[in-house]
Amino acid sequence: MTNVNTPEYWNRVWLLTGEYRGTRPIYFLADSLVPPEASILDIGCGTGYGLQVLDGREGRIVTGVDYSQKALEACKSPAIQHDIQQPFPFEDATYDLVTCVMTLHCLDTPENAVRESARVLKEEGILLVACPGQHRWKEEYAFLPTLKELQALIAPYFKYVLSFNYDVWKVALATK
Ligand SMILES: C[S@@+](CC[C@H](N)C(=O)[O-])C[C@H]1O[C@@H](n2cnc3c(N)ncnc32)[C@H](O)[C@@H]1O
Repeated sequence: MTNVNTPEYWNRVWLLTGEYRGTRPIYFLADSLVPPEASILDIGCGTGYGLQVLDGREGRIVTGVDYSQKALEACKSPAIQHDIQQPFPFEDATYDLVTCVMTLHCLDTPENAVRESARVLKEEGILLVACPGQHRWKEEYAFLPTLKELQALIAPYFKYVLSFNYDVWKVALATK
């Protein structure tokens, strides 16, 4: 099995792929969840396509995090290099929305990223997680959660969690 949880793996992917737009509908869903002036953190932002979708509103503050240098070189929005399995370099209660799109399933310790997302979210802030459906990329990814598993991972840190199938993704929306 390929180890997908390394910056080197993702540097190679981004060199080959360039900008990736496959998760466009998820980012439009995220955009619809918060007011224009919301502050948003995208963890595992890749080349920042999602950040560009989210950044289209007056007053928006968006920040991306990714550990792939190649991804960040292509990213036009504000973003920092960081491993999201480590504590996030942000204050408590900073963001209205945290998005984690097609990234949580790459992590060896996904619960750390969920806990840190809860910490940096404001009261009533929202976490949006989207993972691939289980039928896809079975060879590459060790953690392809069912909706129940996704719910169980997130529930300890949030008041409400709603998980559902959305096109080819498994999505969870959680409120602090
Ligand atoms: C499939 S891409 C998704 C990118 C973007 N969210 C999108 O939907 O277009 C996964 C991204 O997560 C990043 N990533 C994976 N594990 C990470 C980690 N531990 N810390 C930071 N970024 C990570 C990879 O570098 C890659 O850019």
